[in-house]
Amino acid sequence: MNILSIETSCDETAVSIVSAVGQFPDATYEVLGDALHSQIDVHAEYGGVFPALAKREHARTLIPMLTKALADAELLEEEVSELTQKQVEVLHELLLRDPGMADALIEFFQTYEKPEVDLIAVTSGPGLEPALWVGVSFAKALAEIWNMHVIPVNHMEGHVLASVFDVEEDNKLAQITFPAISLLISGGHTELLLMKGWGQYEKIGQTRDDAVGEAFDKVARMIGLPYPGGPAISKLAGEGRRLNLPAFTELPRPMLHSKDLDFSFSGLKTAVRYAVADKELSEVEKQSLARDFEDAVVEVLTKKTAAAFEEFGTHTLIIGGGVSASQFIRQAFNKYFLTHFPDIEIYFPNPGLSTDNAVMIALAGHARSANASNPAAARFIKADGNKSIDGK
Ligand code: KG4
Ligand code: ZN
Repeated sequence: MNILSIETSCDETAVSIVSAVGQFPDATYEVLGDALHSQIDVHAEYGGVFPALAKREHARTLIPMLTKALADAELLEEEVSELTQKQVEVLHELLLRDPGMADALIEFFQTYEKPEVDLIAVTSGPGLEPALWVGVSFAKALAEIWNMHVIPVNHMEGHVLASVFDVEEDNKLAQITFPAISLLISGGHTELLLMKGWGQYEKIGQTRDDAVGEAFDKVARMIGLPYPGGPAISKLAGEGRRLNLPAFTELPRPMLHSKDLDFSFSGLKTAVRYAVADKELSEVEKQSLARDFEDAVVEVLTKKTAAAFEEFGTHTLIIGGGVSASQFIRQAFNKYFLTHFPDIEIYFPNPGLSTDNAVMIALAGHARSANASNPAAARFIKADGNKSIDGK
């Protein structure tokens, strides 16, 4: 089957076309088309993602992304056709909040024929709710005119599946041994999940305040780096490490010895704020501070994850989410687990699939395709900014 997937949960507008041959989890996938527009430039001056702007940008760029993804997949065929008055009305109704998008979409439908796509997968949460709604409404509009089924996807399940998707080797999901533990570290989430099987998640730990990526972004802002700060902090920290700079400051390891598997990063961020105060840091001081910060984060992440392994005795670690793009974090986990749990298999996403993308949404859509809504039922799909991966 060909899956058309849509991702608009945060600041990436992405559409992909993925073919799946076989049943989940044994299918072979092929990415036929993958279009992604990052809104980083739009949000950079605010130092973070601005929901109203994100929504507007998604509405503006979804159709160009759809067109590009279909063209890359060689599924875009011109065919002039008219929509019925009823169809036009339904589109305006579905896209009431984005009248500009309704008009552009009507033009799209009148220019191109229905592509050879079998299922629409769309992120319905978690994420920024106004941003999610743009993608969900768009999916409903496509389903309505093309008479297709829609599967709402949990963004975090997308991250999990991206981490076990072996793009380099065989385009299949890795054959992992369950139970597994998944550590998801992104801009909005930091959570530890116990997975007894595919699609089965139990949340065993989570952040009580800031997410890891959010802490990276806020610390970056404090030292004058643009959004998103994760990659920039990581780069500075790498320099600090390479030059073996002395510590800029002592930073705490929040909740390292708490009896549970929860995290907290706001205290760490505040400690950085105090250390920086109103000082104008030199480049070397920034490198040193970034290294101190990254070391503190990594120590908490690795040791807390290790505690989960001690508690649950599992064999597999799946690390995903935007922060897992960090090479340093990957090395640190590999090193720590090789020493303490040498029998554990660790999975990271292919670098291109670490941060938000639509391919991971197609994988999650395929995993859940049996639950897809028919075109009439699809109208009732809702975006849910707080959607939890364990359904609670
Ligand atoms: O998964 P993602 O793309 O979006 C969300 O679902 O939140 O994650 C984005 C987060 C941002 O906070 C960004 O700063 C962080 O991932 N990030 C990194 C790196 N690359 C992206 N953090 C640390 N090191 C990196 N190399
Ligand atoms: Zn994400």
